[in-house]
Amino acid sequence: MSISQIARTISASPTLALNEKAAILREKGEPVIHLGGGEPKSRAPLDAILAVAAHLNTGEIRYAPADGIPALKKAIIRYTDENYGRLVAPENVIASGGAKQAIMVALQAILDPKDEVIFPSPYWVSYPEMVKLCGAIPVAVPPEDGTFYPRIQDIEQRVGSYTKAVMINSPNNPSGVMYSEQFIADIVQFCEKRDLYLIMDDIYHRLVFDGKKSPICYQYAKNLAENSKLILINGVSKLYAMTGFRIGWAIANKKLIEVMTNIQGQQTSGPSVLLQKAAVGALNGIQSGVENLRTTLENNRNVLVDRLKTFEGVKVSKPDGTFYCFADFSAYEKNSTKLSKFLIDKVLVLTMPGVEFGMDGYLRISFCGAINEITEGIERMKWALDPNSPNELYIGDRKLVRDWL
Ligand SMILES: Cc1ncc(COP(=O)(O)O)c(C=O)c1O
Repeated sequence: MSISQIARTISASPTLALNEKAAILREKGEPVIHLGGGEPKSRAPLDAILAVAAHLNTGEIRYAPADGIPALKKAIIRYTDENYGRLVAPENVIASGGAKQAIMVALQAILDPKDEVIFPSPYWVSYPEMVKLCGAIPVAVPPEDGTFYPRIQDIEQRVGSYTKAVMINSPNNPSGVMYSEQFIADIVQFCEKRDLYLIMDDIYHRLVFDGKKSPICYQYAKNLAENSKLILINGVSKLYAMTGFRIGWAIANKKLIEVMTNIQGQQTSGPSVLLQKAAVGALNGIQSGVENLRTTLENNRNVLVDRLKTFEGVKVSKPDGTFYCFADFSAYEKNSTKLSKFLIDKVLVLTMPGVEFGMDGYLRISFCGAINEITEGIERMKWALDPNSPNELYIGDRKLVRDWL
């Protein structure tokens, strides 16, 4: 079969593949505990449901404008004003099929083949593949000091004549760390000085803990005029537990939004009007769900981190936000794919191998599920990994016997 050179470089999404594996096992009645997920388990806001139901009831479900319906743009403008202190125009906004499509369309709008896009490691699994889809080259930069906190010199060292953009995700999937105010200031100013695009993937920006607040990129920008190369990405998936609605957006200069709209218009057209209505409902409706989710996640994080600290040899840093913890399990197994497979095979606990996020030896453990699932999952992992564990473990009335270590 003849397929394109670009297509040949694209791998399957490992997170989606592992989710599929867990779903198949669950369907067979296996008591799988899913600590690999990337979505909150709460219900979508009632305002979102009512908005979509009302529009569905009209029976007139038509094409939407390629860049989003005016009501959604208006809600996004208000959101940006409230959360970022910046008033933008409708022409600065595009609504897309999730933050994922907003990022993809932005990359397609700015990248030529062989251009390079720099992002810190660990990184969201999709970044390298999205860059490659544009025929461009992903450049992952691990912080040299061994932490999850990049420093400006880490990025600076990798910038060359092919660098077109820097992509920053904070709070970060998978590490859960929130980059410092100083780093955000530095990167915004550095990109302005070097005339680079800066894509700020802020999808988790309100899911932060311990009373912290996410730095706001605009506060450090010297140039917010219509030639600014700052692109802000956001969406309803994580904050409002609306992953299946597939609505995200980008804020950027008008010319770039126009180009992104042309691309999206030819590619998929605008996102479904029903789902856009739902996002309007969520953004304009009662907001208490976001805070409830945040506090639940903070509590889950505390429990998870406390339990992980009881593993001998596991190195864990407390996530500042998101719903992921990225723990170093290399004391047990350096090959994270092997370790993740071992855990699902032996104790039916799904975790994500760190290698997919650019760091082998780590596992990404999600804490967006129910607290009893988190504690039981960790207990099973500990039983599987600790050579001093008793020989047997009961999952319900199923007896597991150690035949390893
Ligand atoms: C860092 C990051 N950016 C973007 C996305 C995509 O979000 P959406 O569901 O809005 O496409 C995700 C989802 O996992 C993510 O973790």
